[in-house]
Amino acid sequence: MPAINWYPGHMAKTRRMLAENLKMIDVVVEIIDARAPLASRNPDFDDLFSGKARVVLLNKSDLADGASTKRWIAYFSRLGIEAAGVSATGGSAKKIVAALIEKAAKPRVDAMKQKGVNKVVRCMIVGIPNVGKSTLINRMAGESRAEVGDRPGVTRGKQWVRISPYLELMDTPGMLWPKLEDQELAKHLAFLGSIKDEIMDSEALALDLLELLRTAAPGPLTERYAKISAETPKEELLDAVCRSRGFLLRGGELDTERAAHVALDEFRAGKIARVTLEQPEARL
Ligand code: G4P
Repeated sequence: MPAINWYPGHMAKTRRMLAENLKMIDVVVEIIDARAPLASRNPDFDDLFSGKARVVLLNKSDLADGASTKRWIAYFSRLGIEAAGVSATGGSAKKIVAALIEKAAKPRVDAMKQKGVNKVVRCMIVGIPNVGKSTLINRMAGESRAEVGDRPGVTRGKQWVRISPYLELMDTPGMLWPKLEDQELAKHLAFLGSIKDEIMDSEALALDLLELLRTAAPGPLTERYAKISAETPKEELLDAVCRSRGFLLRGGELDTERAAHVALDEFRAGKIARVTLEQPEARL
């Protein structure tokens, strides 16, 4: 199966590219999904970025449970990592992220200042697919994109965007691969739409999601799909979505495939409830 050979090769290449870029970087900005901070965080991060100043952004916090995000920030703080909940699609992301980066870079900046140098802090955004890397870069770059061109000694083609007089962001994100060995965590990524749907059985996935939501957010679930109650057995959850929305095929059969796609899409868009799938203390 070529795909199995291809993936580690691709990973090795990505790893080399990251290592090359990291030489120029003062602060690594790691983006994870606030709804699944464990699943969306590549455990290789620690090894890859050791020795670098780092910040963690719990992005899409508009879709996550607020209290859980606070607990995750405290968890990272205990590990000595500055973290914040953000929404790359929202208006305040740039300010929050710039302040966090400056805080993380401060020891280095201060040390350089003592030597009489005003250091320009360079940072790079890294994360697995779909966590919001491009959205955040666009948000941070704003009007100033393409203002800072190539420089001698910088890998050709690399662009730096000036965020403030002493802060520059690499225009291209560092792509990291998700770790899929843990089945439960892999499923969380699938719920979020961060693993390609084609490789999943969407009805089975939607049933698992609805089962989880029936416990984690029973009120909002019933509000969204009136025919679901706390007593609905798992195997009838998709039927209940069909009945709630009138998803019928010709002949009156329930269109469970449509129900599965709708439930997954609505969860991913935050229309059912703000849910965090993993807690720092224990997994949900
Ligand atoms: P990536 O570079 O890490 O792969 O992620 P990207 O920025 O492409 O974002 C993936 C999806 O997540 C996009 O939606 C984006 O709009 C959405 N997104 C990013 N940050 C946030 C956030 O803070 N809150 C919310 N609610 N959504 C966020 P999409 O449906 O793929 O594209 P589009 O509908 O925005 O065009």
